[in-house]
Amino acid sequence: MSMSENSIDNFQLVHFVFFNSLWKRFQSRTHDLISIVLCCLLQDLFFRMTMDSLCQLIFGIEGSSLSPPLAKIPFASTFDNINDIIIARLVNPFWKIQRAFNIGNERIIKQNLTTLNNLIVAVLEERRKATKEIKSSEERCDLLSQFMRYNGCGDGKYSDDELRDFIINFMVAGRDTTAVALSWFVYCLCRHPHVVEQIQMETLDALGLDIDHDLKMEDFAMRLDYESLMKMQYLHAALSECLRLYPPVPRDGKTVLKDDVLPDGTFLEKGSQISYVPYSMGRLESLWGPDALEYKPERWLKDGVFQHESPFKFPVFQAGPRTCLGKDYAYLQIKMTILLLLQFFKFDLVNVDVKYRVMMVMPIAGGLNVYVSHKMPRVSQKRSMNSLPVLS
Ligand code: HEM
Repeated sequence: MSMSENSIDNFQLVHFVFFNSLWKRFQSRTHDLISIVLCCLLQDLFFRMTMDSLCQLIFGIEGSSLSPPLAKIPFASTFDNINDIIIARLVNPFWKIQRAFNIGNERIIKQNLTTLNNLIVAVLEERRKATKEIKSSEERCDLLSQFMRYNGCGDGKYSDDELRDFIINFMVAGRDTTAVALSWFVYCLCRHPHVVEQIQMETLDALGLDIDHDLKMEDFAMRLDYESLMKMQYLHAALSECLRLYPPVPRDGKTVLKDDVLPDGTFLEKGSQISYVPYSMGRLESLWGPDALEYKPERWLKDGVFQHESPFKFPVFQAGPRTCLGKDYAYLQIKMTILLLLQFFKFDLVNVDVKYRVMMVMPIAGGLNVYVSHKMPRVSQKRSMNSLPVLS
């Protein structure tokens, strides 16, 4: 088996193990709440779901954030507090003074960082202990274990501080971004029911299902393999269109390492702070045409085939050598989640007029309020989409 086949297998395994357990909890949780209407909850569930999936990916353990009664997760709330304070620094010119004197928000952030570091040190210690007891034939393949085993060019393993930073980096990068993207995607789909219909027709075709199939959730989920998802060009377009209008990282700052000149001639002095703003770029008529503000998945398709855009025009995952490492993982997870949700539930917005909140990511302010009801898919007619092309 080639290296790439092997990694796809691992990738699928992570997702199917995750989805089988996640969906049961998610489904029963949602079911409980139907009678009282899901309010402010969907976005929160997505945050919990992505936390659990990252626990699976990074530590190889099944997270429990979605277990009733949806208790507060210390790891997650500490992250959130730190995130809020870092954003507040943007409008607080005195934060460096506060940090120097260890007062106000800076005192709180320091306490939160200590809590976070202690939580991670405990995980590392536990993992070291467990690793000693494991025979090499039973070696774990989660990311943390692989980083702990890695010995670079033989000049030493990663230190605990490096491992801690790696864990924080992945958690920060992967949890909120994907949960926020899922929330906005549900929002876009509620506002555009014809897009939901298109996605459902494409799903039936790609999975070779009849319009009145009665697959259970588990059987449906098992059919959502990598190959079927790659056939769904319209779904890919609908998600990309959502990310264009609602980029999870709306603004990304950089520090200039050495004197430089931008392509338009602007001089940048070493040490200056600059930002690129995917939120504004995604809405520029000069880049996307006069209908830039409209949600139109079709703009990404030519003869039904998805057309990739330059990451310098669509910098939602950044561009260049430091592009997001989890882009494919995020697309896959969002698509699988959405297809499962659309197949078994119907969503209606409580408020059409939602607002965004500015943090390091861009969540829906106050959460995503939706009415949820169970359903079986009944699209008006099954359109034939024979020989679906595969995404390149
Ligand atoms: C829709 C979801 C996501 C979006 C929009 C997104 C966006 C981004 C952006 C804009 C950056 C560049 C940050 C910077 O350097 O200034 C980034 C970096 C990164 N992302 Fe993502 N991300 C997403 C999901 C994920 C997931 C699920 C993971 C992990 C499983 C992940 C892992 C990373 C890592 C490790 C980096 C740092 C790469 C480096 O510095 O070389 N991301 N992401």
